[in-house]
Amino acid sequence: MLAGKKIVLGITGSIAAYKAAYLCRAFIKKGAEVQVVITPAGKEFITPVTLSALTRKPLVSEFFTANDGTWHSHVDLGVWADLMLIAPATAATIGKMANGIADNMLITTYLSMKAPVFIAPAMDLDMYAHPSTQQNLEKLKSYGNYIIEPATGFLASALEGKGRMEEPDTIVQFIEDFFEKKSPLAKKKIVITAGPTYEKIDPVRYISNYSSGKMGFALAEECASRGAKVILISGPVKLNTIYPSIKRIDVESAEEMYRAALEYFPQMDAGILCAAVADYKPVHYSENKLKRKTGEVLDLKLTPNPDIAAALGQIKKPGQILVGFALETDSERIHAEEKLKKKNLDFIVLNSLKEAGSGFQVDTNKITILDSLGNVKDFPLKSKKEVAKDIINETIK
Ligand code: C5P
Repeated sequence: MLAGKKIVLGITGSIAAYKAAYLCRAFIKKGAEVQVVITPAGKEFITPVTLSALTRKPLVSEFFTANDGTWHSHVDLGVWADLMLIAPATAATIGKMANGIADNMLITTYLSMKAPVFIAPAMDLDMYAHPSTQQNLEKLKSYGNYIIEPATGFLASALEGKGRMEEPDTIVQFIEDFFEKKSPLAKKKIVITAGPTYEKIDPVRYISNYSSGKMGFALAEECASRGAKVILISGPVKLNTIYPSIKRIDVESAEEMYRAALEYFPQMDAGILCAAVADYKPVHYSENKLKRKTGEVLDLKLTPNPDIAAALGQIKKPGQILVGFALETDSERIHAEEKLKKKNLDFIVLNSLKEAGSGFQVDTNKITILDSLGNVKDFPLKSKKEVAKDIINETIK
């Protein structure tokens, strides 16, 4: 659940700050990106070098760097993050957060935060039990923040009671559970086809198209980031996947993609067919490289490839969702509607090569979604990552 997530880790001045190093390591190990924001008091308990070495990023602590005036934008961090965790959170920081006392970088970052905020308090038992701390925590809950309650046990003061910051593994688990419970895609299985196919003519030549695979990979990443298990059947592309929950199956030809899709689809909750599958392949594959014969026309005979979308449409069971794509150059809506019906899709994502910023290779796309109930929805030009979000939201609906 945490792979690819951007985490702001706020560290404050508590002896439990040493556990923040374990938190950094656990998040990084799970494939997350961590930006530490530390209070001046936090730096007295754990060294910035430890944290920057673990996160491979300089920490943010002050509003600007004194020697060159570089401004550290808390607003940018608020937009960047997928979640913020303050661990350990002292009574002082909790009080400032509850009351908007923005006198350090951590509090301004918290006030600018657009993502969910988790707070792991750490303090002595009497400080924790004090009505002011409890009231502040109630306030933070009422703002929609999540409190990871401290554990009861041995405290640095040598007293015993409730106030020990929860162990890093438990904190990580709490956050993972949160994202899993919140996501309607948690544990759902989705097969996605992506990229072009290569149809071999001879050992050195093939027929293909300009598909980069970017849209299909963005869809796979979006599903994985929401907790789905993804089977990504990809034609030849120059892209990598970061999520361990994406099982990638590399294929070359339409025939190979067809076999893989048919094998996986029956166990899936949804199929999203984003690949630009070659409609035709050469009738004969020449074992030897075809030679040029001066003046002669080369007569290359082509035969249709299997239609993966149509085949899956035929075996689709109730409850399974099937989504297709249509990349058109003319009479876009008519062609898309035809494909939607012919392939028994639940909806089709139409993009036109006539639209600037749409289609192959580019990082943006402009789509229209047409569904089997006759609804049509136009979306503005967005990054493929954002478009993937829209398509997945529609699939969930
Ligand atoms: O190529 P066409 O415009 O028909 O593609 C429409 C949809 O059908 C796309 O979702 C594409 O991935 C899928 N398709 C397929 N197998 C083919 C051709 C297209 O799955 N042989």
